[in-house]
Amino acid sequence: MKVAVVGATGLVGTKMLQVLAERNFPVDELIPVASERSIGKEVEFKGKKYKIVGYADAIAAKPDVAIFSAGGGTSLELAPQFAAAGITVIDNSSAWRMDATKKLVVPEVNANVLTAADKIIANPNCSTIQMVVVLKPLHDKYKIKRVVVSTYQSVTGTGVKAVEQLMNERKGVQGEMAYKYPIDLNAIPQIDVFLDNGYTKEEMKMTNETVKIIGDASIKVTATTVRIPVMGGHSESVNIEFENDFDLNELKDLLSKAPGVVVQDDIANFIYPMPLTAHEKDDTFVGRIRRDETQPNTLNCWIVSDNLRKGAATNAVQIAEYLMANNLLNKE
Ligand SMILES: NC(=O)c1ccc[n+]([C@@H]2O[C@H](COP(=O)([O-])OP(=O)(O)OC[C@H]3O[C@@H](n4cnc5c(N)ncnc54)[C@H](OP(=O)(O)O)[C@@H]3O)[C@@H](O)[C@H]2O)c1
Repeated sequence: MKVAVVGATGLVGTKMLQVLAERNFPVDELIPVASERSIGKEVEFKGKKYKIVGYADAIAAKPDVAIFSAGGGTSLELAPQFAAAGITVIDNSSAWRMDATKKLVVPEVNANVLTAADKIIANPNCSTIQMVVVLKPLHDKYKIKRVVVSTYQSVTGTGVKAVEQLMNERKGVQGEMAYKYPIDLNAIPQIDVFLDNGYTKEEMKMTNETVKIIGDASIKVTATTVRIPVMGGHSESVNIEFENDFDLNELKDLLSKAPGVVVQDDIANFIYPMPLTAHEKDDTFVGRIRRDETQPNTLNCWIVSDNLRKGAATNAVQIAEYLMANNLLNKE
């Protein structure tokens, strides 16, 4: 396979190269792309150095698949140009996610919607991905009515600049600010811009993308998304109300068998998911699984995943793996 990685110098792009190598995706030729300012710089893949090229050279090389993580604007501009050349694009930005003509895919949940005609495929928002892999098996069994989620999100979700801001603050060094406020020793209840309804764009992504991925408009999701000074992954406190009652042990058993989900729920031994332990893992971890005693048919749980992996790179590579395995690439 010829694979282009657009945004190869960024946090997600770097992780993408690592995940492609680790999962042994059959890359015969790698085409790393970044902005004009990075052309000629080198990135490393499987011990070999590759020079960054511009997008026009990448399109001319006609890769089988192009995995984008270069921001929404770049994606809006460039993804259609790749697609027009017959190249399948898997895009990590929010540009195409809610476009009714584009598929929004988490392989464990809805890979079956993909066809060879899908030339731009959207990778969902990181906090949504880790939530839906847990919600889907529960929805299939108990039917979800409503979800109330509060997130505790890693600075790596903002990109290179935010990691630098946190590190500078910890060292007491002045530097460029990715956030409006200091992030070290702080919690910022704003991720992305505010919308007219008082929610942030990140919060509405969780509401709308969940419905699109699970494919059931009756699921109501209300979210509060918060940035905290951690690195390893995003955490979520999730309250789920079902239409049907559940047996807690049966529910835990169901989750333990769900694809991509690992149950870490042993409070007697202080076992529960944390960003420190989810870091560099491809799975989504769920723990603190307990009945909400204030309301019937309702569950509380705690979901953690590495946002640069399952929340971005791993999910995108899994989509590419599915397309390849089902012979859905290179079909006009
Ligand atoms: N971080 C996450 O957890 C996460 C999760 C899901 C999705 N995403 C999405 O993934 C994208 C990248 O995020 P990130 O965290 O990796 O950001 P980042 O660290 O700031 O990296 C941005 C990348 O985009 C490249 N780029 C910028 N403008 C470009 C252009 N005009 N043409 C080609 N490449 C260009 C940059 O190249 P230069 O080095 O040359 O500037 C760099 O490689 C964003 O859309 C983000 O929303 C991020």
